Amino acid sequence: MGKVLITGGSKGIGKAMAVEFLKRGYNVILAARNKQELENTKRELQEKYKNQIIEIEATDLTVEENWNILTEKYNETDILVNNAGMVKLGRSYETENKILLEGIRLNVEAPCFLGNYYVKKMLEKENTGSIRGIINVSSVAGFFPHPLSTFYSPSKFFLDQYSCNMRYEIRRNHKNKGINVMSLCPGAVDTEFTGRGKFLEMKKLCREFNFLNLMMSPKYVARTAVKDFFKGKKRSVPGIFYKTARVLVRFLPEQLCAKLMYEGMVKETE
Ligand SMILES: NC(=O)c1ccc[n+]([C@@H]2O[C@H](COP(=O)([O-])OP(=O)(O)OC[C@H]3O[C@@H](n4cnc5c(N)ncnc54)[C@H](OP(=O)(O)O)[C@@H]3O)[C@@H](O)[C@H]2O)c1
Repeated sequence: MGKVLITGGSKGIGKAMAVEFLKRGYNVILAARNKQELENTKRELQEKYKNQIIEIEATDLTVEENWNILTEKYNETDILVNNAGMVKLGRSYETENKILLEGIRLNVEAPCFLGNYYVKKMLEKENTGSIRGIINVSSVAGFFPHPLSTFYSPSKFFLDQYSCNMRYEIRRNHKNKGINVMSLCPGAVDTEFTGRGKFLEMKKLCREFNFLNLMMSPKYVARTAVKDFFKGKKRSVPGIFYKTARVLVRFLPEQLCAKLMYEGMVKETE
């Protein structure tokens, strides 16, 4: 039975991804900071998936040393889901350096470190016929300028490009290894990330245009993502609205896009 390591697997999209992989018979390792929450999630999932192994690891991935500790303890995985991420709204130049660097470490450096480590391990092994690889959780925020998102939208742009490049390199050099690297780019998802007191304007908009499924459930996002991964897709953008928006935004002048995003985001930061 295959093994999936999911960072940020205790709740939200990460937990929903764990369910999707458990349904397909995989064992899962869930990594996050809050041990109690991890234990609760493990208990809840184990009740339903009695015969599979669910391991938990309390770790803070903004701390560089913890990346090594994690890979030493779990030195192989069939699928890595780089999902843990953080956001901080405000003006980039006013953001405390400590927060800026923490954001870059969690959203960019940790996924790169873990991705590179596990891909090398996957390449050492023979292809057994089942798809292996990485899902990097990026965001639609990485597709266009996003003033007031500090490190967030640049980090998601980076992750999307990193996935795309790594996927191509593997296909060119190790075509027969059955390894896929996919970028998952969700729009708004109903999790603690967008939780109480946060993103109020965005949520108002989502309610007004509810029929467009602007605020997606983590279950829907995870189900779409895992299906797309096994189809061997390069990028998964759940929801028709966000798929269309991704195409349309290419025709907008960059500065107009930045202005629209700024107007939308400025209310979130007041
Ligand atoms: N929700 C959205 O609208 C949305 C849209 C696009 C992309 N995304 C992306 O989706 C990913 C998951 O977000 P979500 O909405 O599912 O958020 P969530 O419900 O808040 O879950 C975040 C997960 O990451 C863990 N985490 C946070 N900081 C961590 C750290 N320093 N070290 C280790 N684990 C950490 C959290 O557990 P602990 O707090 O216990 O550490 C939790 O398990 C993020 O990368 C986010 O950028 C979200």
